[in-house]
Amino acid sequence: MALRLAALLLLLLLLLGSAPGRIPPHDEVARVARFVVNQCDWASMATIATRAPVVGQPFSNAFSTSDGAVGSGSGVPYMYLTRLEISVQDLQVNPQASLSMSLAQTDFCRQQGYDPQSPLCAHVILSGSVVEVQNGTLEADVAKKALFSRHPEMMDWPADHDWFFAKMNITQVWVLDYFGGVKTVTPDDYFKAPPY
Ligand SMILES: *[C@@H]1O[C@H](CO)[C@@H](O)[C@H](O)[C@H]1NC(C)=O
Ligand SMILES: *[C@@H]1O[C@H](CO)[C@@H](O)[C@H](O)[C@H]1NC(C)=O
Repeated sequence: MALRLAALLLLLLLLLGSAPGRIPPHDEVARVARFVVNQCDWASMATIATRAPVVGQPFSNAFSTSDGAVGSGSGVPYMYLTRLEISVQDLQVNPQASLSMSLAQTDFCRQQGYDPQSPLCAHVILSGSVVEVQNGTLEADVAKKALFSRHPEMMDWPADHDWFFAKMNITQVWVLDYFGGVKTVTPDDYFKAPPY
């Protein structure tokens, strides 16, 4: 009897642990930002183009991201990049970038009937710069675990492309999660906030 109860409890814990979680209240802006970043598997990253005929213009491109397992992210968006990639070539000239992530890529907005452009379909814009994470460091292990667990295909990406880990060095967080205009969050408040 006690054993069965324990098994039931364990199952419940497992279910709770793997549940996608609920979005924090919209006025807890830093928490919403952390939630969106953790839920999203990819971001649109804008760089300043270095390639003709769009030199100096914004250039937005999709990148797989991860700040850790769903439900326990660190808030740091990691990426797995190669210098052969067009946007990464921009970053080598100017590391400043903007990452946009939206719950439109999860089931949340569809289920609620929120259009991707609606502020109710919570989305964030991260301003900052993209910084390489040196291989062989503790942080590289963290980045690898975060990325490869959510993007297992990365393990098989061509070895001769000199992949490296990188992270967004966030300087400002912009949040659209409700009516009334964009709200900003400092990196300090962002990293302190519990997303779940
Ligand atoms: C860095 O680590 C990744 C993942 O382990 C590996 O694929 C890549 O080849 C390494 N890069 C260098 C320059 O050693
Ligand atoms: C992150 O950005 C801040 C603000 O621009 C800068 O002072 C800091 O050196 C950057 N960190 C790294 C690791 O590049």
